[in-house]
Amino acid sequence: MSLAVIVLAAGLGTRMKSATPKVLHPLLGKPVINHVLDAITPLNPAKTIVVVNPQGAAVREALAGRNVIFAVQKEMRGTGDAVKTAARCLSGYTGVVLIVNGDTPLLTAESLRRFVKLHTAKKEAVSLLSFLAEPPHEYGRILREHGQMVGIVENRDATDEQQAIREVNSGVYAMKSEALALLKRIRVNVSKGEYYLTDIVGIAVRQGLKVGAHIIGSASEYAGINTREDLHAAGLFLRRAIASRWMLNGVTIMDRDTAFINPSAQIGMDTVIYPGVHIEGKTVIGARCTIYPNCRISNCTIGDAVTIKDATVMEDSVISDHAAVGPFAHIRPATVIGKNAKIGNFVETKKSRIGAGSKASHLSYIGDAEVGADVNIGAGTITCNYDGVNKHTTVIEDGVFIGSDTQLVAPVTVGKGAYVGAGSTITKDVPSLALGLSRTRQVNIEGWVPRHAPKNQKKNGTLKGDPRRRRA
Ligand code: UD1
Ligand code: CA
Repeated sequence: MSLAVIVLAAGLGTRMKSATPKVLHPLLGKPVINHVLDAITPLNPAKTIVVVNPQGAAVREALAGRNVIFAVQKEMRGTGDAVKTAARCLSGYTGVVLIVNGDTPLLTAESLRRFVKLHTAKKEAVSLLSFLAEPPHEYGRILREHGQMVGIVENRDATDEQQAIREVNSGVYAMKSEALALLKRIRVNVSKGEYYLTDIVGIAVRQGLKVGAHIIGSASEYAGINTREDLHAAGLFLRRAIASRWMLNGVTIMDRDTAFINPSAQIGMDTVIYPGVHIEGKTVIGARCTIYPNCRISNCTIGDAVTIKDATVMEDSVISDHAAVGPFAHIRPATVIGKNAKIGNFVETKKSRIGAGSKASHLSYIGDAEVGADVNIGAGTITCNYDGVNKHTTVIEDGVFIGSDTQLVAPVTVGKGAYVGAGSTITKDVPSLALGLSRTRQVNIEGWVPRHAPKNQKKNGTLKGDPRRRRA
């Protein structure tokens, strides 16, 4: 049996109070609607139609590269009207039509597949996927008579008695393509001035067609995102599930509610993740690592027994075994940090290779640099890699010692085992084993202070900075 899917995503999402379309709000690093499409794709539909509004360019962009057709709903006249818009793309199609809301990101392929199977097996004209919701909520209530579904009533239109019904509409429907003809019988709902897709159930029943509501999967899969609170709840649900998976795999997660771990990330055994850590993209973290609070690690490959101290940001980089980074370090793209290397506080790296056992412990900028093994980079060292037009490379060979507050004006090379004196501005290559020094010699002028001190200070015999005064 062939399958077509309709995704409703034209709504304005007014309850989000946002300039961003509701279905584009990010959830675990990707837009809400992408989650929905990821649940549909494994079903291999012959056609997927996404209903967007005339301002839907951003939604199209978010779904670029996916095999979907966009149907533009000109006016937001409700879910019934949205499906009618999509149905125009299905003329001549026969088979099953699966309809889902674009704002239900927790849908799973498995439950959708089971639902479509059941719909086909039961030979129903219209099938609905229902679930038991915990009040308070605003889902449409399923009306049953003698156990048989006869209609759906929206929360706002429900009587007190109907409000007490626990079985609700997930927004997932499966229909025979012929049932799409019923759409034109939907009348505008007076209380909201919209065409409700939910009315199709009652219409089918009145036509004597076979309908059914089926509870499949767990209620959490059908959470709809209408408000920022709903978005938060869905995020928390996904985060908890991912954290649980890693805990079962031997990772310590101190606070699973604040562990933001991308579903495609990998984490090794006995690694410890402190609260507030964001692990983004395709990051791979080895075994026995410790990631201290509030770090953001994006698309990095981290070896075993690595320590990432508090508030460190790392992007598109590689950190080798037993290295230590942070606190407050900024590891920018294309950094490769060697085994046992140490990058300390307020150090920024970019497009640089730091050799095994090398250290830059404090306050440095290392950009476009090739740093060998066992190099010591003193506090405040800066690679001056940019001349205003081009970027140049700094090469620091094995065993070099760079004194504090050094500027290395690239392109420049410091040869193997060389020393650079503190406070130097290095503009020429330093040969291997040499001392590179570029600073004016210090002069001490004896008795300068009393000769230059202000008169009133001389009169009362005390001088600012006078050691005798300090002792008093
Ligand atoms: C809808 C259902 C409700 C169900 C709930 C499940 C109706 C009338 N109500 O309510 O029974 O329990 O979903 O989550 O269908 N949309 C359009 N065009 C429109 C209006 C909406 O494309 O003109 C899209 C929205 O972008 C959204 C989806 O349809 O993705 C559902 O609309 P929404 O307004 O969120 O419906 P709910 O009030 O949640
Ligand atoms: Ca909704």
